[in-house]
Amino acid sequence: MPKLGGLEKVKSDLRKVEKMKIVACGTARHAGLVGQYLFEELSGIATEVDYASEFRYRKSVWDDRSAVLAISQSGETADTLAAIREANEKGVITLGITNTVGSTLSRETTAGVYNHIGPEISVASSKAFTSQLVILVLMAVNFGRMRQLSLIEGRNILQEVHNIPVKIQKILQQNDHIRDIANRYKDYTNFGFLGRKYNYPIAIEGALKLKEISYIHSEGYPSGELKHGSIALIDPEFPSMFIAPNDSVYDKNISNMEEIASRKGKIIAVATEGNEEISRVADDVIYIPDTLECLTPLLTAIPMQLFAYHVASLKGLDIDQPRNLAKSVTVE
Ligand code: M6R
Repeated sequence: MPKLGGLEKVKSDLRKVEKMKIVACGTARHAGLVGQYLFEELSGIATEVDYASEFRYRKSVWDDRSAVLAISQSGETADTLAAIREANEKGVITLGITNTVGSTLSRETTAGVYNHIGPEISVASSKAFTSQLVILVLMAVNFGRMRQLSLIEGRNILQEVHNIPVKIQKILQQNDHIRDIANRYKDYTNFGFLGRKYNYPIAIEGALKLKEISYIHSEGYPSGELKHGSIALIDPEFPSMFIAPNDSVYDKNISNMEEIASRKGKIIAVATEGNEEISRVADDVIYIPDTLECLTPLLTAIPMQLFAYHVASLKGLDIDQPRNLAKSVTVE
């Protein structure tokens, strides 16, 4: 079982939790969405994720088996803090994941985990996101081992977590390839990002990364939603980034890709190494090494970040300080 020192003091309370509400904003909320899949699959805890800015105005329903988890790199995001304050008032256990030691979030939650990744300077969150995902995996295994997850399953996941840095290195070695792709797509004015299950949150994160630093209109959505509206947008001028690793929803993703290709929409696919058949439907492919399904977001997030970085850089934009944005949003 992974030991998370910051959660030790509430360990016995955490055993009783049956409902988790994750509150966060922006990229941190996208990490929370991956957390939802992890907590429900590995820990058996019913989990909801909310925009902190909405949560504070909803009438939430609590009971003594509920807990709230706030995720915030800065630990100072006004909406996230307001959500935590409301939960504290209701007497619910509040947990935090933050990178900032001594931040308001760390002081106002009952317990939590620090990212300890050093300061994140760029407005666009990148290393914080990766680290939030790792912590959520560790929490899910931790909570799972208190409930339904076997020792072998838990160990298997943790062993694979150790392999992730080497696998990320392999993706980073494709930097030139990703820059070439970015160069070919940088002049499009709209972009779709699609993924399913664990990689739906990575699709919306990829869209956020691209829009915030390149100012290209980007929409992320779950690939199963394609037919419910967004497919109307597909034409040769509307490319899609499609996240389709070898996982339990791969076949579904392929059929969605075929729907896009048949409408002459260009596709960049993020796929698992060795998958040659994907070139049948995709115009360009970025490969990631194979890993466990629940850990794929740790790998698929990297091409999203690199692609957005290169598009913005090739357009001569300020990557660290994009227009209209602040690193820490301390007002509502
Ligand atoms: O400091 P926080 O994690 O609470 O910040 C939340 C969002 O403002 C932040 O993730 C924002 O979406 C980033 N600019 C995304 O790259």
